Amino acid sequence: MSKVHLIDHPMIQHKLTLMRDKNTSTKDFRELLNEISMLMTYEITREFPLKDVEIETPICKSVQKMIAGKKVSIIPVLRAGLGMVEGMLKIIPSAKIGHIGLYRDPKTFEPVEYYCKVPNKIENRPVIIVDPMLATGGSANAAIQFIKDRGGNNIKLMNLIAAPEGIEAVTKAHPDVDIYVAGIDEKLNDHMYIVPGLGDAGDRIFGTL
Ligand code: PRP
Ligand code: URA
Repeated sequence: MSKVHLIDHPMIQHKLTLMRDKNTSTKDFRELLNEISMLMTYEITREFPLKDVEIETPICKSVQKMIAGKKVSIIPVLRAGLGMVEGMLKIIPSAKIGHIGLYRDPKTFEPVEYYCKVPNKIENRPVIIVDPMLATGGSANAAIQFIKDRGGNNIKLMNLIAAPEGIEAVTKAHPDVDIYVAGIDEKLNDHMYIVPGLGDAGDRIFGTL
């Protein structure tokens, strides 16, 4: 069963409130998203496995710890997921970046795919799929399935805000995928927007309102 990790550090809650405010500028919104993404990545990587490495300090030889395994793959769901990548790279600078292009059809609310490119040997990498909004869960479920179809088997999902409906949809379809989220909101409205949410994440990041 998926675990849902609510990362509700006071600094994250403070920054998320600023992002929700409709008067926050595009520039500030983008900066806040980067800052929260960096803080969330610190938490999401907490359980990454370590290996022993021998190094030589200026004083002596010593066995110390480093992250084990192949480089992490960060996979933003276009467009809005792109706004989280820069902050994540501050914590995992050597990550490989894939892209999944999806948009939600405004009438059916179903995800429509237009692009998918992922790093090689995805089956050997931890994968973090990122998208600020988990609303109905249709986009996240499609993105997770794309990665699984290409061999990915160690997948985490990172969202800024989730609706209970989206969490339920992902945990049902992909019980092996843990979800990391900074806020869990009340519900979806008739247009499948998260309430209270922050509006259209892509439009707010890219200034296309
Ligand atoms: C938003 C958001 C998610 C999706 C969430 O993208 O970034 O990808 O909606 O909704 P769901 O959980 O109901 O599928 P949108 O389709 O607006 O595309 P954009 O990022 O290109 O603006
Ligand atoms: N996509 C968004 O950008 N915002 C929502 O509230 C729901 C889907």
